[in-house]
Amino acid sequence: MRVGVLTGGGDCPGLNAVIRAVVRKGAQTYGHDFTGYRDGWRGPLEGRTVPLDVPAVRGILPRGGTILGSSRTNPLSADGGVRRIKENLAKDEVDALVAIGGEDTLGVAARLSDEYGIRCVGVPKTIDNDLSATDYTFGFDTAVNIATEAIDRLHTTAESHMRALVVEVMGRHAGWIALHAGLAGGANAILIPEQRFDVDQVCAWVESRFRTRYAPVVVVAEGAMPKDGEAVLKDDSRDSFGHVRLSGIGEWLAKRIEERTGKEARTTVLGHVQRGGTPSAFDRWLATRFGLHAIDAVHEGDFGTMVALRGTRIVRVPLTEATARLKTVDPALYAEAGVFFG
Ligand code: F6P
Repeated sequence: MRVGVLTGGGDCPGLNAVIRAVVRKGAQTYGHDFTGYRDGWRGPLEGRTVPLDVPAVRGILPRGGTILGSSRTNPLSADGGVRRIKENLAKDEVDALVAIGGEDTLGVAARLSDEYGIRCVGVPKTIDNDLSATDYTFGFDTAVNIATEAIDRLHTTAESHMRALVVEVMGRHAGWIALHAGLAGGANAILIPEQRFDVDQVCAWVESRFRTRYAPVVVVAEGAMPKDGEAVLKDDSRDSFGHVRLSGIGEWLAKRIEERTGKEARTTVLGHVQRGGTPSAFDRWLATRFGLHAIDAVHEGDFGTMVALRGTRIVRVPLTEATARLKTVDPALYAEAGVFFG
């Protein structure tokens, strides 16, 4: 059997570990051949391939990014998208696809599989950890470690100058990175997209921290919003899946803190540094296991499924179920963190 592999959506640490595991087990245990598709769904859509075999995946386990490249191309909104994909798979003699991606990439895999009979197995990835079917996605642990280290560093400079430091982390729809890194880094407030925040309350926490002669660090997820304002978003461009790209909440909040408390505030936007570089040991472990189980599913002909972590076990779930609902932060978990605010 010849298996196509692609990585779609925002990249994240661990993608190469999945590719390596799929190819190593697929070639060595099952005798399958592989074709790499470049840049997510753009690869099979435009027939952009790269050779993929055991030598090609040597040494890539600790490397961030993806050797296959990625994009947010949605082939379902391209002219004749499904037909072109089918033609290219036939031309390349590819029998099945392993699609490694987040909600959008896997949503496409679910439809191609269910509605058009294209044989797909999905592997979930996102630093945001917001896919409901799996306990964790790889990339998340690395992002949390990077954000935590940044918060540690920001505490010391904040204290030297007695300033408030606002750290904006990724997370458009879910505040998992903010919550985990904020708790691990001892943030004095954590603001997440799931709960609108009250600017007065945040300023009260900031002031109470200053009163104890410590400088506050506020962690804000990029998708967090104040109770009364839509006007905080600078950039409303959309990607090909129609998602709004948000930016600017950290800076907006630092300005409000300065105005209302009279204290200096600075903003650090961590941005793509959270997605770059070498994966943590946990992410390598999870990505490798996902890869091994994904090629098992392909070999067994269990298409239309996605691998997922449940506890310590890797299970298979229908791709349609995997992408049906975002996993957002449970209010009880968020409330738990509130003990440390202020
Ligand atoms: O979905 C992963 C993610 O990293 C989000 O947290 C972030 O909002 C988005 O991707 C950024 O996307 P891009 O790299 O296209 O700007």
